[in-house]
Amino acid sequence: MNDYRIASIPGDGIGVDVQIEARKVLDRAAQRFGFGLSWTEFDWSCERYAETGKMMPDDGIEQLAEFDQILLGAVGFPGVPDHVSLWGLLIPVRRAFSQYVNLRPVRLLPGTTSVLADRTADELEMVIVRENSEGEYSELGGRQNRGMPGEFALQESVFTRVGVERIIRYAFELAQTRTGRVVSATKSNGIIHTMPFWDEIFAEVAERFPTVHSEQCHIDALAARMVQQPERIDVVVASNLFGDILSDLAAAVTGGLGMAPSGNINPEREHPSMFEAVHGSAPDIAGQGIANPVAQILAGTMMLEHLGEAEAARAVYAAVETVLAAGEVATPDLGGKATTAELGTAVADAL
Ligand code: NAD
Ligand code: IPM
Ligand code: MN
Repeated sequence: MNDYRIASIPGDGIGVDVQIEARKVLDRAAQRFGFGLSWTEFDWSCERYAETGKMMPDDGIEQLAEFDQILLGAVGFPGVPDHVSLWGLLIPVRRAFSQYVNLRPVRLLPGTTSVLADRTADELEMVIVRENSEGEYSELGGRQNRGMPGEFALQESVFTRVGVERIIRYAFELAQTRTGRVVSATKSNGIIHTMPFWDEIFAEVAERFPTVHSEQCHIDALAARMVQQPERIDVVVASNLFGDILSDLAAAVTGGLGMAPSGNINPEREHPSMFEAVHGSAPDIAGQGIANPVAQILAGTMMLEHLGEAEAARAVYAAVETVLAAGEVATPDLGGKATTAELGTAVADAL
């Protein structure tokens, strides 16, 4: 029997609530499909920061390196500045384990509705392939002349040929397994150095994939297209910041943030990958037991797939579809009255 060692980091806010439900469902899947999930839980969070001054211990990355995969709830909560909590946990994990692909598939599931009127499920299926290790998320820069009239902040973006090429190649390979269409989101008309560089590499890679239909689109126009003509979009490849923004937009048009999973993937499998929802800790609803756990459960299916447990992944996905289609157990964001735990239990029972 395969026994997988999984690091569980519930984190902050609703991250904790949805993590419990995802584990409930994944444990049920393991039981049914005959593999083991050995969980080790880490209390790394803003609460821990308040007590110890650290989001994770100094050897946190070494500890995580021992695991097959990581399931993360969410990081960040009022009281600790976001740059402290996120650069103290989330971003270092993505980088240390070279999780340079942030894969964010969305799809309108049965029983849920899009904010876009009269759209069918087959028109609302896409995946954001977000560059996850460089770009706009750089530590280069700083603040100068604090408190003076000439105060300013400077942030440098870093786009390397290796970094851009590998994410674009990943998107093309993925497009070959889907509808064979990929669109790259840049802002090359307004950003003179980094984005034309990205476009150039995109065109080079496109030549190596003659069967894939490729297109370069300005991100502002692509954002409009995502709302007005989502059926024209399948695989989107974008930089770290652009991919971040587009993934919340894609989630919003396909049923909301409570529905969108995410995988921080190290394609070479030299290190653990990390699975989480696209959404954050949602302080506005934290502690109320009403967060939608579906995004985190679907992140769990991505983890199962990555582990090679494709059949179990499909079964969990189908269980989510069954429960949502029946429409009896839905959280408030889906128009229902169910709690996080009730929805998680319903999915586990549907397995
Ligand atoms: P958010 O995603 O936490 O919340 C945005 C809105 O969506 C809120 O109104 C929230 O109630 C709603 N929402 C989100 N997930 C939901 C769910 N599962 N069910 C029902 N409603 C849901 O974004 P934010 O408010 O900008 O960020 C809150 C904190 O989370 C910040 O500290 C931020 O930095 C952090 N964050 C962390 C991650 C991560 O850990 N990967 C991702 C995004 C944001
Ligand atoms: C996400 C989040 C993070 C990101 C933040 C919290 C740093 O928005 O995972 O989408 O931008 O990567
Ligand atoms: Mn985000």
